[in-house]
Amino acid sequence: MDHGRLKDRLAKAGQSHLLRFWDQLSPEEQAEFALELEGMNFTEINAFFKNAMETSGQTKQEKVDSRMEPLPREVLGSVTRDRDSIKEWEEEGLRCISENRVAVLLLAGGQGTRLGVSYPKGMYDVGLPSHKTLFQLQAERILRLEQLARRQHANPCCIPWYIMTSGRTMESTQEFFLKHKYFGLKQENVIFFQQGMLPAMDFSGKIILENKSTLAMAPDGNGGLYRALGKHKIVEDMERRGIAYVHVYCVDNILVKVADPAFIGFCLRKGADCGAKVVEKTNPTETVGVVCKVGGCYQVVEYSEITLATAEMRSADGRLMFNAANLANHFFSLPFLKDVINTYEPQLLHHVAQKKIPYVDTRGQLIKPDKPNGIKMEKFVFDIFQFAKTFVVYEVLREDEFAPLKNADSQDGKDNPTTARHALMSLHHRWVLNAGAHFIDENGTRLPAIPRLGPAGAHAPDGSQNLKDGTDLPIKCEISPLVSYGGEGLEKLVHGREFQPSLIIDERGIHEHVRNGL
Ligand code: UTP
Repeated sequence: MDHGRLKDRLAKAGQSHLLRFWDQLSPEEQAEFALELEGMNFTEINAFFKNAMETSGQTKQEKVDSRMEPLPREVLGSVTRDRDSIKEWEEEGLRCISENRVAVLLLAGGQGTRLGVSYPKGMYDVGLPSHKTLFQLQAERILRLEQLARRQHANPCCIPWYIMTSGRTMESTQEFFLKHKYFGLKQENVIFFQQGMLPAMDFSGKIILENKSTLAMAPDGNGGLYRALGKHKIVEDMERRGIAYVHVYCVDNILVKVADPAFIGFCLRKGADCGAKVVEKTNPTETVGVVCKVGGCYQVVEYSEITLATAEMRSADGRLMFNAANLANHFFSLPFLKDVINTYEPQLLHHVAQKKIPYVDTRGQLIKPDKPNGIKMEKFVFDIFQFAKTFVVYEVLREDEFAPLKNADSQDGKDNPTTARHALMSLHHRWVLNAGAHFIDENGTRLPAIPRLGPAGAHAPDGSQNLKDGTDLPIKCEISPLVSYGGEGLEKLVHGREFQPSLIIDERGIHEHVRNGL
């Protein structure tokens, strides 16, 4: 397209300001920028902006409290209340895995802004004794699950791993997997695909220039999944492999039970086309979205959309009435995914997030604003609950299954590398206790099962120093996913034994006293 036509197109779209610095660009920069602009559908982008702003304006004013209903008991499953059924569900899920009908899909296209690292979050090492990254933990859980399914059903099986990245994370993610030889998985069973990007816009709908020849682009939210699945023909790939069910999850939950057989089995028994895993919200002011019904349809209601009075409402059993905290951890049947991609996705509106977006001003100076100056538009993966014919909810224990990595250690005491690391080690500590072993100190005294709150400067059970008053330090204990997926198989290794922390169990054996910073 020649420059004149590009200029006309931008003028028609009300985006002429994007060429403000055109004459200052080198011929190479001009060519590259023109190519980027030519590839953009401005009519669509402007429509996304208009619709997103309209709905966000409405939802801001309108609380949904009066239309909210709690989840009916018949759609609910719970690892605590339905203990008797878990084994059955697990077997059902494992059977389905052994028949090569289950795939996992990782949402890894986020920018990890709060964590503040320049590489994809899955490559993050939270400082476990093994220094395994989030990607490696997930890969090894897949390997172990394949092994368990194979053993139980004497059927060679594979769980294909679909990984959604964005323009910003694709290359480094792929390089990382290559460098680590796909963590033992077969390369052809790890399928990368890229989600879409959208430009950030100012409040009047003008696309923001990040520098003189680059637009401020961001991934279109984890709900960009559905469009990306369609664009890259991923469901067709799944069909070729005989996949019938997909487990979708986020990259940052260190405890994630990838392709959790019990969750899959529960969804199958219920004949569900869509399922959501949740944990109990116990504090009314916790900033999480809850799964519930609104006007007869299932959806996630964000904490900002309800009043405190509704958030504080309790059921007869004393638990919060709206307590199903959404984890973005889902089960989908393939026909449902196909319907979403082909029919429902275009109906989903973007959510608006006001952000501080660096930009070049009219003089070409880079400005880093100190208050929000524009919006990013995102769809959410759970926006499609409303379209499910049979929707179910599966409640699990937070301490067993949910510890997301969102923030850097320096920022916040919540959801950071330390809390993620501690959550994993406490879980593994409990697995070892459940398998009939104990931890002892250097004098042979048994350590309490629940870690003590340490006073400032006290020493943790493994000798490392506890610096903060009241810090809850776990016993350092790490079990490789290659040895145990969910605590199984440990009895034969540890029953009746006493261990001094630190304890590491991996495919090479049992290692004690591994000293490393907690
Ligand atoms: P978050 O919403 O927590 O975003 O993503 P983030 O990118 O990890 O972190 P911040 O908000 O920039 O600090 C939840 C999950 O959704 C994925 C993320 O990779 C994570 O697994 N995600 C998010 C996408 O796949 N694409 C997106 O556009 C956004």
